[in-house]
Amino acid sequence: MCGIVGCVGRDDAQDVIIKGLKSLEYRGYDSAGIAMHNGDYINRTRAKGKLMNLEQKLAKDPLIGKNGIGHTRWATHGPPSEKNAHPHSIGGVSIVHNGIIENYLELRDQLKSMGLDIYSDTDSELIAHLVNIEVKKTGELASAVKNVIPQLEGAFAVLVLSEKHPDEMIAFTNGPPLLVGFAEESFIIASDLLAIMPYTNKVTYLSEGEIIYINKTNYKFFNNDLKEIQKNIETVDWSDELVEKSGYSHFMLKEIFEQPRSMAKSLEPYIDVDNHSITMPELEKHADFFKSVEQVYIIACGTSFYSGMVGEYLIEKIAGVSCKVDIASEFRYREPKLIKNSLVILISQSGETADTLAALRLAKEQGVKTMTLCNVQHSSMDRESDIQTYMNAGVEIGVASTKAFICSLSVLNVFSGFLAKVKGNFEKSEEEKLVKALLATPSHMESVLTYDKFFADAAERLKSYKGFLYMGRGVHFPIALEGALKLKELAYMHAEGYAAGEMKHGPLALIDEQMAVVMLAPQDDLYEKTISNLETAKARGGQVISIGTIQDKKLKELSINFLSLPEVDWNINPFLAVIPLQLLSFHVANALGHDVDQPRNLAKSVTVE
Ligand code: AGP
Repeated sequence: MCGIVGCVGRDDAQDVIIKGLKSLEYRGYDSAGIAMHNGDYINRTRAKGKLMNLEQKLAKDPLIGKNGIGHTRWATHGPPSEKNAHPHSIGGVSIVHNGIIENYLELRDQLKSMGLDIYSDTDSELIAHLVNIEVKKTGELASAVKNVIPQLEGAFAVLVLSEKHPDEMIAFTNGPPLLVGFAEESFIIASDLLAIMPYTNKVTYLSEGEIIYINKTNYKFFNNDLKEIQKNIETVDWSDELVEKSGYSHFMLKEIFEQPRSMAKSLEPYIDVDNHSITMPELEKHADFFKSVEQVYIIACGTSFYSGMVGEYLIEKIAGVSCKVDIASEFRYREPKLIKNSLVILISQSGETADTLAALRLAKEQGVKTMTLCNVQHSSMDRESDIQTYMNAGVEIGVASTKAFICSLSVLNVFSGFLAKVKGNFEKSEEEKLVKALLATPSHMESVLTYDKFFADAAERLKSYKGFLYMGRGVHFPIALEGALKLKELAYMHAEGYAAGEMKHGPLALIDEQMAVVMLAPQDDLYEKTISNLETAKARGGQVISIGTIQDKKLKELSINFLSLPEVDWNINPFLAVIPLQLLSFHVANALGHDVDQPRNLAKSVTVE
């Protein structure tokens, strides 16, 4: 889950790499480095900490050259430090690596027994040793890489520069994302489209086991056996403004405010506005299959898992089909027995989360149809699943997921309606009601965003609580979990999400005057029960912040702060209820002086176990 960028054939290669790394910083940000070939030698600069530290070094002492590689790191093997930062340079070879080499201990012993010195604590340095040995043997970069790949076990995307081969660069992947941008007489290779977007929209995604070899302006794709293969160059559609902060202080804040628009966009491909009907043409191709589905499994991690939990309510209540939700890292190791005629839905913003990808592969091994709900098109999951749906949230940069969550909820709503329809469980009037409710949601979301000011003002007070308990019932239980996750990851405060009915079975003991209790209590069929849970928490001294439906006098009386939401259907409530929780986490973290867009110890896509 590091970010890698390579550039071949540009006078401004150093800038291209640094700008690319900036856009990939969400993938890791504990150290960074760059190596450039100046025609004679490879020079390298590395720095611990954020990319800014590397930039400062380069401002004093820029690197020269048209070809180079760069890396922004999320530490797996060895702590963040300059010596562990990439590129790793051994002999005349420099490499950057994203992924994990699982057999690194054996390789390390093997290299040590050959009398070689190992300079860092990383698994990645070993790749540089192996390539260096092979370059010396074969004299060729491509043959060297061909001989190294079979020695590596695990997940790896690697870029290689060689001093003896000034015009060449080679890149290969065994899983982690890697794509090549074809600009005018130059190439940019990166872990994500974001690093390539400013220069070209002509790209090729490398698949597992593929290599690209570049020599000046020529390039060739190979498989692992160095047999040449043909790959298509795609033209992708984007707009630069997607990756700018557009006047907001943080990407996260921008993404929170973008949510009404993103939600509307996520619906566009799946709704016929004129007829108020659901249209999922790609899914309709599999109509017979969906008709026969008896069981749905939803598998995901983190925030995507919580949207899956909401999905469970939607699929069971709207489509009337049994649904189970699993955390991907648990699913893959518990020898799941998937029943025939079932559908496995994998939810992932990045489409690269290692555990979710492994769960997808496991489901396929068991012969069960898989459907992805990803944000990043062409991601590994998107490519490997049988059926694809998309969040259409646009690029999400903040490590804390916000708009992708909202867009997952909207696609899950539509999908539940689609499933109900193919199964003949949905009256036209019900379909119209669902579609109209979804279409009206963005404007309700706009009105909830006005709580931004409330949380900006309240943050100083809120940050002094010793902890936060988030409670909700039904579809608001996953929202409570999501609220707690956001606060943990951004404010580094103790926060827990609970099904409100479970309070009396233990968590009540946590409550005193130092504990904030965030109660989600919109007026749905569980409202009265939620209010009883709220009274219990208040009686123990809990400082209640409640989020409920407009003009709820009772809730207002019971709370130190009451935030009202527009009155909407039960399935729309989660879209609205999550927004105050996102704003709360953002402002508390900001008041605590934390880096909201890049919280400590985390990275946006978790491509390691
Ligand atoms: C949420 O704010 C996270 N940073 C994290 O939990 C994330 O949702 C999780 O890692 C799953 O990512 P994915 O959706 O890209 O698979």
